[in-house]
Amino acid sequence: LDNGLALTPPMGWMSWQRFRCITDCDTYPDECISEQLFRRSADLLVSEGYADVGYEYVIIDDCWLEWNRDNMTNKLVPDRKRFPRGLNVLADHIHDKGLKFGLYQDFGTKTCAGYPGVIDHMALDAETFAKWDVDYVKLDGCNANLSDMETGYPEFGRLLNETGRPMVYSCSWPAYQSEQPHFESLKRHCNLWRNWADVQDSFQSVMAITDYFAKNQDSMQPHAGPGHWNDPDMLILGNYGLSYDQSKLQMAIWAVLAAPLIMSNDLAKVRPEIKEILQNRDVIAVNQDPLGIQGKRLLIKKKIEVWSRPIEPKINGEYSYAIAFVSRRVDGSPFSITFTLKELSLFNDNGYIVQDLFERNNKMGVFRKDTKFKTRVIPNGVSFYKFTAL
Ligand code: GLA
Repeated sequence: LDNGLALTPPMGWMSWQRFRCITDCDTYPDECISEQLFRRSADLLVSEGYADVGYEYVIIDDCWLEWNRDNMTNKLVPDRKRFPRGLNVLADHIHDKGLKFGLYQDFGTKTCAGYPGVIDHMALDAETFAKWDVDYVKLDGCNANLSDMETGYPEFGRLLNETGRPMVYSCSWPAYQSEQPHFESLKRHCNLWRNWADVQDSFQSVMAITDYFAKNQDSMQPHAGPGHWNDPDMLILGNYGLSYDQSKLQMAIWAVLAAPLIMSNDLAKVRPEIKEILQNRDVIAVNQDPLGIQGKRLLIKKKIEVWSRPIEPKINGEYSYAIAFVSRRVDGSPFSITFTLKELSLFNDNGYIVQDLFERNNKMGVFRKDTKFKTRVIPNGVSFYKFTAL
């Protein structure tokens, strides 16, 4: 969507994966979907250093609404107990922290959790979002007719635009379609779109998503770029499901895929070594590469997947690359594997300077056309390098 926004994949934090639809604030005061949770998360994004490396959007997912609209005005009403002061106070707090405010709604009659959706009140809701100083809208697709989406999602986007307030527009529409998505339309009308199933808190879920992206890369990859991104869903680092090395793996593949980096975790509880992965500036720079070219799974050799993304700088017509070696092996010790540069589709005559993106003191020297590149990958792990063209 050409609205000047999301020129690189959006970065931020969203409630859903970790906090779901916890609404019982008496029992779970620190976890329930409430003003408190989003305030605290905004504060932690700043105090824990996430904002410094680019995490920006604080996004309320489902379960923030009252069960019914206001019966006089039909306006959406934030839950009176959990957001007693309304959303403007929260938006102000988020903005005062230098961050941006995102909000969830659903295209259908009801959200996925059963709260009122936009379908019969699209203009009113777009206006309400603008009045609440929303900067990012996630429009889900539960309880809707698939056949209405092709016109309805663009329509809501147009209404958002007409408010005059710039809002990133995230569309969940393809995640609900079983046929090939209409990418030309998505690209024109949305800044990002959820392609497939919801991420869950497991390694298996992360890998199922990456397999889907690899399998469909030839149709999906060409449609990503500045202002319009494929979205494999949230980063689950810092939760219960991923090991240390699996955490690196999700981060690396999301960087290669030019995926939105939207964490969903308890920012107060992310262990330091996981925080370090989330805040790895070199990996984030790959994700945010200004060329905005989505990477692909290039090949699989001995159960080691090679994921590669063209990035800056481009020298004499040759791109530089970020290349992740992802192990699907489970046979104990780290697995050594060697590639020719040609196998890795690295054809620059002058070669490349190679840097390990997960190691400090990470310069590995120059690799030329005829040199071989060796790496050692941990089971269910990743090694990740930048090949800078010379
Ligand atoms: C769907 C979406 C999720 C989340 C939930 C909320 O499943 O795909 O990302 O927004 O709805 O109910």
